Amino acid sequence: MSPPSAGRVTLDALRRRKAAGERIAMLTAYDYPTARRAQAAGVDMLLIGDSLGTVLLGHPNTRSVPLELMLMLGEAVRRGAPDVYLVGDLPYESLSRGPAVAVAAAQRFRDAAGCDAVKLEAGPEDQPLVAAVVAAGIATIAHLGLRPQQVLTPDGYRAQARDAAAVATLVAQARQMCAAGAVMLLLEAVPDEASRAVMAAVDVPVIGCGAGAACDGHVLVTQDLLGLGFTRPPRFVPVLAELGPLIDAALRQYVEAVRAGTYPGPEHAYPMKSPRA
Ligand code: KIV
Repeated sequence: MSPPSAGRVTLDALRRRKAAGERIAMLTAYDYPTARRAQAAGVDMLLIGDSLGTVLLGHPNTRSVPLELMLMLGEAVRRGAPDVYLVGDLPYESLSRGPAVAVAAAQRFRDAAGCDAVKLEAGPEDQPLVAAVVAAGIATIAHLGLRPQQVLTPDGYRAQARDAAAVATLVAQARQMCAAGAVMLLLEAVPDEASRAVMAAVDVPVIGCGAGAACDGHVLVTQDLLGLGFTRPPRFVPVLAELGPLIDAALRQYVEAVRAGTYPGPEHAYPMKSPRA
């Protein structure tokens, strides 16, 4: 792994952004070209998310994502975006086998993929897990609210913390994760009121994924934002480009041109070298 570039976004810089009230822009990336484009667009943070299990691999849930694949893709993302604050998502296979396995995976995200931090979906019982990763010297982001690793079917996604009691539980959990050393929180699919309550209770930057406007930053799955999915994206996703239909049309045009014999044309052919005089 090459040493960090001088222009890399740091945790301190992100903390300063929070203090100054400047929002943090975060996206997912699973490959080199997307990472490169995201960095060029000014994105501060990229997540090698285990959402790649559903988005790239076509699984019904994120549980079967292999760590090895995430590390390989993470290296590609880092090559494309040397300056972003890069976060590796601890997959279910690394989180479900106890703190030692989680710590080893987190170290590989840092050492092999060049990640600045790891994120983990944290349940109420996971304070020791967060503490163990933090104790290994790895910046850790606790993912609260909706935890996709607990959702086994595509129709199982539900907004969380939608009443006062659930908000109080979320706030208690956020405090617990910060006490364990989490450097940031990620809140998924919770109302604005819940995010505000969490923000009032903790000092660390809070990134929202469908968690209202109050958060210090926001993250989305890039494929959702670009209209590349096959199902309707969640209500919090603004589809800013409809790339799916554009790709469909281009692929159809190619197939038709091959079938009709209009591709390849003379402009696509290599000419023979002219014989030497
Ligand atoms: O895996 C993922 O992409 C996530 C979301 C927060 C975007 O965890």
